[in-house]
Amino acid sequence: MNHLGDMPVEEFRRAAIRAVDWITEYFAHPETYPVLSRVEPKAVKEALPASPPSSAEPIDEILDDFERIVVPGITHWNHPGFFAYFSITGSGPGVLGELFSAALNVNGMLWQTSPAATELEEVTLDWLRQLLGLPVGFEGVIMDTASVSSLCAITAARHALDLDIRARGMAGRPDLPLLCLYTSDQAHSSIEKAALVLGIGQRGVRKIATDPAFRMDVTRLEAAISADRAAGYRPFCVVATVGTTSTTSIDPVPAIAAVCQREALWLHVDAAYAGSAALVPEYRQVLDGCAMADSLVVNPHKWLFTPIDCSVLYTRRPDDLTGAFSLVPEYLRSGMDGEIRNYMDWGVSLGRRFRALKLWMVMRAFGQEGLSKRIAGHIQLARQFAAWVDEHPEFERLAPTPLSTVCFRAVPAALRSDTAASAAGGDKAIDDFNRELLRRVNASGEVFLSHTTLRGRHTLRLAIGNLRTTERHVARAWEILTTESARLTSEL
Ligand SMILES: Cc1ncc(COP(=O)(O)O)c(C=O)c1O
Repeated sequence: MNHLGDMPVEEFRRAAIRAVDWITEYFAHPETYPVLSRVEPKAVKEALPASPPSSAEPIDEILDDFERIVVPGITHWNHPGFFAYFSITGSGPGVLGELFSAALNVNGMLWQTSPAATELEEVTLDWLRQLLGLPVGFEGVIMDTASVSSLCAITAARHALDLDIRARGMAGRPDLPLLCLYTSDQAHSSIEKAALVLGIGQRGVRKIATDPAFRMDVTRLEAAISADRAAGYRPFCVVATVGTTSTTSIDPVPAIAAVCQREALWLHVDAAYAGSAALVPEYRQVLDGCAMADSLVVNPHKWLFTPIDCSVLYTRRPDDLTGAFSLVPEYLRSGMDGEIRNYMDWGVSLGRRFRALKLWMVMRAFGQEGLSKRIAGHIQLARQFAAWVDEHPEFERLAPTPLSTVCFRAVPAALRSDTAASAAGGDKAIDDFNRELLRRVNASGEVFLSHTTLRGRHTLRLAIGNLRTTERHVARAWEILTTESARLTSEL
């Protein structure tokens, strides 16, 4: 470019068409790529110059390098064989929303810095509230991730204690008791991380044991609260999980909510993954009891086909959230406070991307019926896969499958005799077998599964959540797993 200022618009149009053509081809044929990137460590770094360009480079060369250097280093979350972690989709309507959001480049910190950004967020989140079956009174805000949503919710819970922590902090205060937060031993690490950030510390986190179906044991929760009160500590918050990360187990929220009400504790529900299932009429009960929660997080970027990042925090106590976070310097005063919502008051960050746009486009383009059928389809595919596991003599399921994630492992007959190790919960030979099986299966390039540990056992996880995944892909995953398992068994 031999001028100052942005790229000329005609050049932008040409490059944008090339980019959209590339994306369209990519969406049409994601299976062209190995799902798990095959690059060696440092390959991407070494393909890039160590110092920045001193003069302008042609956009076509940059796009060429995107295809040549960046794409090979991509693990394809859009690949229909992506079954790892929680499988997600940046759907077409969502990508269009991102495109407009990038082009508009608004910062939605205040209502007046883009009224549509604030009001579309309010309306879209109220639609989502209705779809999830949450009552009126739950007010929403979009954050980047569930980790941050939960951090903000727990900050509000701490603020609600009236210990004047906002003004006086926590350090050097002998008057403050140890604050205790309760969650299950299956909760996501983001909850403990929030405790690290908020001065609760790992010492204040109680990981309540779970039942055989990996759900929080409410009797143990009650016992832990009593013990902490007896010790002079201050219980303040319980985090229940609807859809735990390893197994998608669902904590008994109605019973937990009753404990919270009796004990006057803030109830936060982490429904980051599974909350979306409540859109399906037959699965609405996944959020049973959540109407009693003080706050709840659900991530449209997990199972609602919205490109990452988009996490929604709902709260029935917005005054505690804004009470914890609102801090308005003069330059951000608009004189309209009170009449309108300024989302900068609802969390840590001042600057806010226009994330509501993509969620609005997704909700409109699929509609409740479309969203619900897609989620129900994923659950059905997981059921099918779970049935194959159950029928196979050399595989077993290691957890119930309430939603779209299956936890299982191979148990070759030749290794089953290792009962002493098994009794000790070790299953070392079986664990090693499954580790190697996962490595080989993922090396196929056709599928990508991840793992967890359940009751000391190395566990394989197959998570379905991608709109491009069909029965054919799930069947192929099973075929690769059984073939590789048989091959590995023959090598024993
Ligand atoms: C149950 C649960 N909560 C929270 C998170 C964290 O999500 P995020 O990446 O949006 O912070 C995850 C991630 O998988 C999760 O499974």
